Amino acid sequence: MVSAVTSSLSKPAHIPAECVVDLNIFDLPLTNVQDPQAAYAAFRKSGDILWTPHNDGHWILTRAEDIKAVQNDWKNFIRSPQVSIPPVERSTPAIPIQLDPPIHAPFRRPLTKMLLPKTVEEMAVKVRSVAISLIEAVMSRGECDFVKELAELFPILIFLDLVDLPHSDREYLLPLAEAQTRGGSAEDQMKAFQALGAYLAPIVAQRQANPGSDLFSAMVSVEVHGTVISFEDALNFCTTVIVAGLDTVASMMGFIMRHFALHREHRVDFVQNMGDDTFVRNVVEEMLRRYSVATSTRVVANDMEYKGLKFMKGDMILTSATYANTEDQRAIGTPFVG
Ligand code: HEM
Repeated sequence: MVSAVTSSLSKPAHIPAECVVDLNIFDLPLTNVQDPQAAYAAFRKSGDILWTPHNDGHWILTRAEDIKAVQNDWKNFIRSPQVSIPPVERSTPAIPIQLDPPIHAPFRRPLTKMLLPKTVEEMAVKVRSVAISLIEAVMSRGECDFVKELAELFPILIFLDLVDLPHSDREYLLPLAEAQTRGGSAEDQMKAFQALGAYLAPIVAQRQANPGSDLFSAMVSVEVHGTVISFEDALNFCTTVIVAGLDTVASMMGFIMRHFALHREHRVDFVQNMGDDTFVRNVVEEMLRRYSVATSTRVVANDMEYKGLKFMKGDMILTSATYANTEDQRAIGTPFVG
């Protein structure tokens, strides 16, 4: 159910009353089907460009066209002061996600290189073997807690391979990454962030002194204006990347498995067509579209007008993949899910 647009919510003077919605992105009005993407998408009926007073107040773009326009306009819509809703105070920006061009590019390079299709393809055998070992560990029981026993373990094991660290380190890292992304108070999040830093510090120092061929070694050797990044920046970079990749993948896997649990017909269809690479690729694309989990944010760099609305310097804008992906276009011609 979409909350009625109400003009009684407190708002800055430049926000038109008709844009205001009662939407807390951390407390969506879920039905008993528990479909957050659908609950999110339902607010699109209230307008293309909305504003909510929750979480310190922010704009919400509900159309792919506007999300694309804002994300591509890195001069007017920036990430450097803040990328969190609600805003989180940090003494230094999180690298690379709180950086803007041109300083962003050198930090992005090692990540892009590691995620080239050819490089990912080369990892396929190892990734499959991790998936198989996790499934085999629960198979004889005939049931499992999918999130705890598969979805949360899978990304961290792949990540530990990417950065050449032992799989056993997952025991220490998982609770910290969890506390970082969904930990209750800002204080809990800060404690987890510091503990991650303490774990990573000796690893970063060792990789800066003796780089190998792993992702962390490439990240801590980044050069900006001809100088290798400092130990502090390298530590910041590694901490951000470790946190970015765990909850996103685990959440998405959880949503996808939940879809198959709820839709027997799709489960049967999938099992019958598992040998068809194109079918499998299309299903993956479609699931990624329908169950998007990421909510990115931009900040207005200077007072400006956009489509007749006043955006003021410092206004936060939610440019969520969930809105971009649940509009009308689908990732593939024959959608697998609604
Ligand atoms: C299903 C899984 C994932 C989803 C849905 C996802 C989504 C996103 C989105 C939407 C952004 C853009 C944020 C913005 O521009 O404001 C982003 C950035 C980023 N993600 Fe992911 N991500 C996923 C997996 C991963 C993994 C596995 C890693 C690392 C191993 C990772 C590392 C990062 C980093 C470092 C950034 C910042 C990039 C930059 O500033 O250039 N993500 N992610």
